[in-house]
Amino acid sequence: MPKLPDPRNANLMIHVGGVLLPRAEAKVSVFDSSVQGGDAVWEGLRVYNGRVMMLAAHLARLQASAKAMAFAQIPSPDEVRRALFETLAANGMRDGAHVRLTLTRGEKVTSGMSPRFNQSGPCLIVLAEWKAPVYDAAGVRLITSSWRRNSPQCVDSKIHHNNLINNILAKLEADAAGVDDAVMLDLEGFVSETNATNIFQVRGGVLSTPLPDYCLPGITRQTVLELAREHGIEAVERRLSLTELYAADEVFTTGTMGELSPVLEIDGRRIGSGAPGTAGASDRAGSMTARLQGLYAQLAETAGEPLPA
Ligand SMILES: Cc1ncc(COP(=O)(O)O)c(C=O)c1O
Repeated sequence: MPKLPDPRNANLMIHVGGVLLPRAEAKVSVFDSSVQGGDAVWEGLRVYNGRVMMLAAHLARLQASAKAMAFAQIPSPDEVRRALFETLAANGMRDGAHVRLTLTRGEKVTSGMSPRFNQSGPCLIVLAEWKAPVYDAAGVRLITSSWRRNSPQCVDSKIHHNNLINNILAKLEADAAGVDDAVMLDLEGFVSETNATNIFQVRGGVLSTPLPDYCLPGITRQTVLELAREHGIEAVERRLSLTELYAADEVFTTGTMGELSPVLEIDGRRIGSGAPGTAGASDRAGSMTARLQGLYAQLAETAGEPLPA
C-alpha cells in the first residue's frame, strides 16, 4: 500500500451538486441522504491513456441503481459524463486516475429516513484522484469472513449502493487477521465475492466465478469473462465452494480499483504453487491469471471511451 495521503491529491477539484470546488470546500450537507442513511449509489471508474474504461457500462449501472432506489430527477448518462469530463479536465487527469462517482438522494428538509423529506433532487459527486491499482502486484492474501454477503432477500447486491457496512465488517476481520481482504459467502455457504472485488478460480484450464446472485455483477468480472471466451478459454459462472478455491490451480480477484490480482493464500492455504514474495513468481508468469492480466491491460490502453481532446 502506498504512503497516504498522496500529496498529488492535496489540491483536487471536485464536482459536488453541479459545481466544481477545491477539495477543502467540496462538501455535502449534514442533511444529505448519504449522511442520514447511506442512501446513495456509486461507481468506481479508472482512466487509462486518455480513456475511461467501460464508461457506458458504469453509467448504465449507476442509472439502474438509482432507478431501483427510486431517486427523483436522476441525471442522464450524458449529464454525468459531462460532469466527469469537466472534473478530469480541471485536474489535468488523462491517465493513472481513479474516479468515485456518487449519486446521493440529495439533501433532506429535515433529518430522517423518509425519501419524502427530499424535495430538491439528487446530488452528484465526482471525486477523481491520482491512484494506482490498490493491491500489491505480487498478489493478495485472503481470509473468509464470518459475515455473509447480502442476499437479495435482504439487500440486493445488484444495487451498487453506499450502504457498505456489510462489507466493512468483513474488511475489519481481514485487517484484524493481517491480510488484504475477506472472502464473503452466501447464506448457503457458497463463495460470493470478497468485500471489495469479484473472485475467480482456474482449475484444469477452466475459469469459474460465482453466479451474480449475491455478488455485485462487476464490470471487470464481465470483461474478464468476455476476454476469456474471445481467447478460447472456457469460462463458466456457477456455484463455487470454498474448498474448491483452496484446491484451485489459481485464484484471482477482479475490480476496477485493483484490476486483476492473484490470490496467494486463503485461510492459510497456499493457492496453487504461489507463495508470498518470490517463490511462486516464476510459475505465475505463465499462469492463466498473468495471461488475463495482459489481455486486460491491452484492452484498458485502447478500448475505453476517449476523453475530449
Ligand atoms: C463488493 C464489490 N465487488 C466487486 C466490485 C468490482 O466491481 P467492478 O468490476 O464493476 O469495479 C466492487 C466495486 O465496486 C465491489 O464494491
